[in-house]
Amino acid sequence: MGQLGKSYSIIDQILGHLVNVLYLRRTLMPLAMHISKKNQIIAEGLYEKGWIIMDDYINEEFRDSLLKEQQDILRHGQFRHAGIGKGDSFAIKPEIRSDKVFWMEEGELSPMQESFWKKMEALREKINQRCFLGLRSFESHFAMYPPGSFYLRHLDQFQSVAYRMVTVILYLNHGWKEEDGGALRIYFPDENGIEKGLDIYPVGGRLVCFLSGEIPHEVMTTKKERISITGWFRNID
Ligand code: OGA
Ligand code: MN
Repeated sequence: MGQLGKSYSIIDQILGHLVNVLYLRRTLMPLAMHISKKNQIIAEGLYEKGWIIMDDYINEEFRDSLLKEQQDILRHGQFRHAGIGKGDSFAIKPEIRSDKVFWMEEGELSPMQESFWKKMEALREKINQRCFLGLRSFESHFAMYPPGSFYLRHLDQFQSVAYRMVTVILYLNHGWKEEDGGALRIYFPDENGIEKGLDIYPVGGRLVCFLSGEIPHEVMTTKKERISITGWFRNID
């Protein structure tokens, strides 16, 4: 009996382990497929028209954690006035853009930032497979637009160094409404080649992705504090 009891418990343990493995596969696989499907749709949109909007790119829990992290960084006074241009032409010009930013540093990412970068790494690979843009690296910052702030029409690709190829913007705001303002207005040609503008509100969990050298855009004046993460895939290391 004792023998039998013991062998059953070993079998139980093995079965238990198998059940765990199968259960984890069952629960994790659809999630993994889900994000890769989203990334595929984004890559397709970039290829077809040069821009794409993806709602619920991240879930509420992750959005909330990223927002809390942003609020912590802000409380610690680590946000700086954003500038325009690169190198010698860099300048802080509040009449052009009045947001504040916190740059993430690749070697110094928090666990939350790390999991955001991992998602972006997967997206980079998907875009490379579909669009052949040769994207090799990523740079990213949190952005905070205080009430009354804006960013006039611009392209994200610098004229001096054109390594920024694809822009991604992930919004972290909770409960954004149209009357809060702060839309991202993107410009692109319609089927007749005539320029059209489209207003995209910074709804939490929404990801916007576009070709940095081809889609002019602006941030309309916001009435509420507006939080996002902006990143760029680059064709340099
Ligand atoms: C930018 C930018 C748009 C947005 O940071 O270059 O255009 O919606 N951001 O935050
Ligand atoms: Mn921009």
